[in-house]
Amino acid sequence: MLARIVVLVSGSGSNLQAILDATRTGALAAEVVLVVSNRRGAYGLVRAEAAGVATLYFPLKPYRAAGRSREAYDADLAARVAAARPELVVLAGWMHVLSPAFLGVFPGRVINLHPALPGQFAGTQAIERAYAAFQLGEIEYSGCMVHYAVPEVDAGPVLAQEVVPILPEDSLDDFAARMHAAEHRVIVAAAGRALAGMRG
Ligand code: GAR
Repeated sequence: MLARIVVLVSGSGSNLQAILDATRTGALAAEVVLVVSNRRGAYGLVRAEAAGVATLYFPLKPYRAAGRSREAYDADLAARVAAARPELVVLAGWMHVLSPAFLGVFPGRVINLHPALPGQFAGTQAIERAYAAFQLGEIEYSGCMVHYAVPEVDAGPVLAQEVVPILPEDSLDDFAARMHAAEHRVIVAAAGRALAGMRG
């Protein structure tokens, strides 16, 4: 039976697309059963609909407006995700730090993509910050990784990583394009590894 995956996105969803493509070709023996976004305009929702995958728009704002906590949001989000019965939850450009109220519902089953190597440039704008650090001579290369999610931002046991070179003639767009191509390989490899690890 195909493994069930839920993917959480906040943006363009190109990594979601890499996962959808890999499930279609059989490179990843899984099916995406639900795509969740915390941003209504996320193009990832359009990609999911085009692939015939169920979608859920689940914003934090109403919780904030009602004076409710992030933990309340995370717990309700976890319940909605759990209803889709995923073996694996993939954070693919999901720009909201998940607390134990979410992570505790899926122990060892949530993986996160980050566009930097382990321990580097945690948080947002990692590609831009790595590019700037290269210009200052502080780093010679960067990379991307997928790790098991823990409450700390962009940290946790690493499943897959790839070094991404930065070339002196690179524009930021050149470097970002190379990074995204690497991410699309790493996210599929990591999802496969995580599922293989669970299924023994
Ligand atoms: C990716 O570069 C991903 O690594 C990054 O958001 C982008 C989403 O692209 N995630 C983070 O920075 C997490 N800290 P996509 O929407 O096209 O997949």
